[in-house]
Amino acid sequence: MDKLVVRKSGPLMGEVVISGAKNSVLKLMAASILANDVCVIENVPNLQDVRVMAEILVALGMKVEWTKRNELTITPAEELLTEPPYDLVQKMRASIVTMGPLLAKAGKARLAQPGGCAIGERKIDLHLKGFAALGVEIKQSHGCVEGIADKLVGSTIYLDFPSVGATENIMMAAVLAEGVTIIENPAKEPELTDLANFLNKLGANVKGAGTDTIRIKGVERLGGAVHSVLPDRIEAGTYMVAAAVAGGDVLVRNVMPNHLKAIVAKLQESGAEIEVFDEDVRVKSTGKLNSIDIKTLPFPGFPTDMQAQFMALISVAEGVGTITETIFENRFMHATEFSLMGADIKVEGHSAIVQGGSSLEGANVKATDLRAGAALVIAALVADGPTTIHNIYHIDRGYDLFEEKLKGLGVDITRVSGK
Ligand code: UD1
Repeated sequence: MDKLVVRKSGPLMGEVVISGAKNSVLKLMAASILANDVCVIENVPNLQDVRVMAEILVALGMKVEWTKRNELTITPAEELLTEPPYDLVQKMRASIVTMGPLLAKAGKARLAQPGGCAIGERKIDLHLKGFAALGVEIKQSHGCVEGIADKLVGSTIYLDFPSVGATENIMMAAVLAEGVTIIENPAKEPELTDLANFLNKLGANVKGAGTDTIRIKGVERLGGAVHSVLPDRIEAGTYMVAAAVAGGDVLVRNVMPNHLKAIVAKLQESGAEIEVFDEDVRVKSTGKLNSIDIKTLPFPGFPTDMQAQFMALISVAEGVGTITETIFENRFMHATEFSLMGADIKVEGHSAIVQGGSSLEGANVKATDLRAGAALVIAALVADGPTTIHNIYHIDRGYDLFEEKLKGLGVDITRVSGK
């Protein structure tokens, strides 16, 4: 398996251009199952997860082509199959979002039941509760979840928790349902709004994405569309934290500053200097930062996908910081890896108490999930001696041109290929 070797680097200087959002493009691709004409998706990041989703669509009978470096053209299936294969589904939890579109378009879907993962149980009860409210009969047996419906009928659905995946899945199931569906307490993440915009371009009638109530009026048929994926706020945040920790002056380009408010606020509180432009943000830092407290929350709160990167920041900042994780029950696996580098972190239930001011040392560490992998690279920027990061397939799932972009800022990073 490949490894990354990162040596102390900085100050970071230059520009980094942010790619399309992983958490948006995967849902747009799933939504293209609903289309009856060709969909062209632009600004697509070239990621492992995107390739897996493309394989799933192909397995369902659709045609998926890279028509330009960052453009996918997706052609509807002549005969849509409804069972995404096990070996692809188990590679990526987000494959569950094919279920809503399949139920809407074909009236049935059968997928391997997603299991737990390193960061938590990752249940799908809210997805299934929503489908059931639309008239889908759900069966769970032999490790699979299956839904069947003669027709889907609009309904009012209250989500006990604003789950991103459940909101998206229910929204995609409801666009072709008879009548009106109302989702109360939905997720408000920007990627979900991007999905609603795409569905509307296909001919759907979705209103209120990004607010407390989403209203979907079912339509009979959806066409095709051309759509550009919104910029990845988590990728942007990752480079912003890297610049703050290593010090330097970095222009992070092609972002939506509105989506970065929590990250900008926390970086400013830590002492980094941030300038916000229309589509860019500039991070200037001496590398001398103060500790901060973090609490992860649904959007517009602080994103759980930035928690690990900020743990790297607090580890080397001045003072003590507390991180409270409210979204996933077990998302502190990376604390042990940071400790191997000399960080002082105590995990107590949903909180991690990070004693800042540690002098980090290079070590052999492993990426425990996608964002944890990026966070270890950030820690390695200020560690003495080389850090070797293992299990980087996690990073490849979600960061487009990761090494190239870091090298462009002056980071000493090398990929070592292995079996
Ligand atoms: C998405 C993002 C992920 C991000 C997360 C939270 C994608 C591909 N992934 O994941 O990067 O970290 O949002 O912002 O977009 N839950 C239930 N029952 C359900 C569904 C969820 O209990 O039916 C729980 C989960 O176990 C978890 C919490 O709700 O503890 C949040 O999950 P959810 O918002 O659904 O995250 P994902 O859509 O899986």
